[in-house]
Amino acid sequence: MSTHPNDVPSIHTPSSLEPTRPETGHSIARMRETDGTLAPFQLEQRRMIHREESVRMQSDAFRGIRTRLLGLAGKQNFVTLVVSVSPRSGGSFVTRNLAAAFAFDEAKTSLLIDCNLRYPNQHKAMGVEPDTGGLIDFLEHPSIGVEPILYRTGIPRLRLIPAGKSRENSGEYFSSFRMRTVIDSLRSRYADRYIFLDGPAVKGSPDARILSDLADFVIVVAGYGRDTPGAINQAVANFEPDKLAGVVFNQTP
Ligand SMILES: Nc1ncnc2c1ncn2[C@@H]1O[C@H](COP(=O)(O)OP(=O)(O)OP(=O)(O)O)[C@@H](O)[C@H]1O
Ligand SMILES: [Mg+2]
Repeated sequence: MSTHPNDVPSIHTPSSLEPTRPETGHSIARMRETDGTLAPFQLEQRRMIHREESVRMQSDAFRGIRTRLLGLAGKQNFVTLVVSVSPRSGGSFVTRNLAAAFAFDEAKTSLLIDCNLRYPNQHKAMGVEPDTGGLIDFLEHPSIGVEPILYRTGIPRLRLIPAGKSRENSGEYFSSFRMRTVIDSLRSRYADRYIFLDGPAVKGSPDARILSDLADFVIVVAGYGRDTPGAINQAVANFEPDKLAGVVFNQTP
């Protein structure tokens, strides 16, 4: 696969997943909240896809990316890194929705890991309180084990590992032996578990490239009308061509 973006398969995510106003479904939402599963309007508040017709275009786009990754991978489960070309282009949005698209398949589970240590955001976006720590806490104190840092998200079969304490020297953590070991063990523990790393933007940080060493596939997210072809080219050139699964053009609201 060439590293030139024109030759790299590109996928468009349709425009905004704007939250719709809850109608009369409050009692249903409450019922669902008690068993921990989020209702569609709560997912839309989190800018997330669900199974209802109203977000069909978006869910189809993410299912399309899922199909492509599964086609590239063959039978094995895998680790996918998702990074934006530049900050705020929608990398985190794409990562959590792609992870959700995998979890829609009842035969699969997905694990989203927030690897943006400077500006961790997934726990906020998903409404998860990381009160027993996150990735950094585990890397600094592996004796706590991974159980406390694996959080339910309200989406069946989708778990989140939040970043934990924010850190400046994130590259050192990502290139550590401990990081590789934990990713390998999370992947090999369950054959049906698919792992998604939400990385920082390529522009302005070496972390995206360092993280790609831990991944089987890399997806680069370009802000539609935001990131120039030159910037997309430059971003893509950071990754091994064999790992590059595609460029997603995301239309931010
Ligand atoms: N296609 C979209 N539809 C609706 N909301 C979106 C879309 N893309 C991004 N957003 C929203 O735009 C904001 C920025 O997106 P996001 O956090 O995913 O970007 P990022 O590239 O990960 O940013 P950062 O550089 O902070 O990591 C978020 O509030 C996100 O929910
Ligand atoms: Mg992000």
